[in-house]
Amino acid sequence: MAQANLLFPRGFLWGCATAAHQVEGQNTNNNWWAWEQQPGRIINGEKSGKACDWWGGRWREDFDRAAEANQNAHRLSIEWSRVQPAPDRWDESALDYYREMLQGLAERGMTPMVTLHHFSEPLWLTERGSWEAPEVAELFNRFVEKIVEALGEYVNLWVTINEPNVMLTSAYFMDDFPPGKNDFGPAFRVAENFTKAHAMAYHTIHRLQVSARVGIALNYRSFTPARSWSPLDRWAANLLGSSFNHMFPDALQIGRLRFIALSKSIPQAKGTQDFLGINYYSRDQVAFNLLKPGELFARRFYLPDAELSPTGFIANVPEGMFEALKWGLKFNVPLIITENGVEDADDHLRPRYLIQHLHQVWRAVNFNFPVKGYFHWTLVDNFEWERGWSQRFGLWELDVETQARRKRPSVDLYSEICRENTISSDLVARYAPEILPKIFPD
Ligand code: GAL
Repeated sequence: MAQANLLFPRGFLWGCATAAHQVEGQNTNNNWWAWEQQPGRIINGEKSGKACDWWGGRWREDFDRAAEANQNAHRLSIEWSRVQPAPDRWDESALDYYREMLQGLAERGMTPMVTLHHFSEPLWLTERGSWEAPEVAELFNRFVEKIVEALGEYVNLWVTINEPNVMLTSAYFMDDFPPGKNDFGPAFRVAENFTKAHAMAYHTIHRLQVSARVGIALNYRSFTPARSWSPLDRWAANLLGSSFNHMFPDALQIGRLRFIALSKSIPQAKGTQDFLGINYYSRDQVAFNLLKPGELFARRFYLPDAELSPTGFIANVPEGMFEALKWGLKFNVPLIITENGVEDADDHLRPRYLIQHLHQVWRAVNFNFPVKGYFHWTLVDNFEWERGWSQRFGLWELDVETQARRKRPSVDLYSEICRENTISSDLVARYAPEILPKIFPD
């Protein structure tokens, strides 16, 4: 076969995504730390502990790794509970530390994308009712204002809230995330507060920074009716799609939040996304099930012949990436893949998964979809929320005890793609020859 290259646009952002609680360690003043202390909350009773020890300084060596591996961008989050440890107290030394990290990225020639809320929150907010508290948007806004004033000179790309749809589902329907509720009651109020908080933050950031680009990172899940002929399966898949995927970005586009039969006008949210961040991991089959009202009458599963990740968490369905980007077009804003990856300690699936998903991103780019960057989840194995350390998403393997890092083969694979801004047939032949004919047909 002749040599061929799949090129990405000039200036494309290539990086990894991380989140404060998952990498910093010793975040003792937030709701996740408290959650980890409760028996039965985290697989095997595991704890975040030192995590990747970024608060102990190891972000430096990890940023070196990323930069040496040709990544030109990095997405990280700021831990609210560190910057504002009590409602009436700002910790300037924490701000200095984040400033140093952002300078560290700049020195390494990497563009930062900063997430202002990535699942964890200060304990004092939890005590006030967390995202159900009527004043939560205002409180979040004060934190955002402080951050943009202190760190704005280093950052233009802001994600206000990471995956409001996952937080809503995991914390208010599935009992997986704190506060561990399992009822529809407060859910709509929480969704409303996420939307209001994002809108307020959006306007604040723009007031303080003319050049800012502000959006959310949404977890896009592909939902396919299990039996395409079944109107009930189609109905259930649609209902899931409209609540899980559409609800938040729609609200930010039109200024109205809709969830099943509920609807609320939030006019200040209209037109408050400068880009849409998409986190894409997998696709579900959806079968209607009358016995699952709490899960919107849906039984979700992977196809029996799907290629599964080692813990069965992810089915490798790269076409869903293209579907997500195509869907994202309707918002008429630039699109950024803010997360994509797979848990795979042995790195058997990751090379293939990575190439196949990037191939779909490339396809989208070639249809002229405005895709501006890709952030892999994640740089180094980290603390995976209720799944603890049982899932290894890192390009680099982490020994949690010794804090030693070891390179997985995907590091060099991704590094070559980032350096060349290209997926070459030669690279595919070396890392995943089995998919060569599919990606580069004769
Ligand atoms: C996302 C989340 C990340 C990470 C990832 C892999 O939903 O934003 O923090 O945990 O899933 O599990």
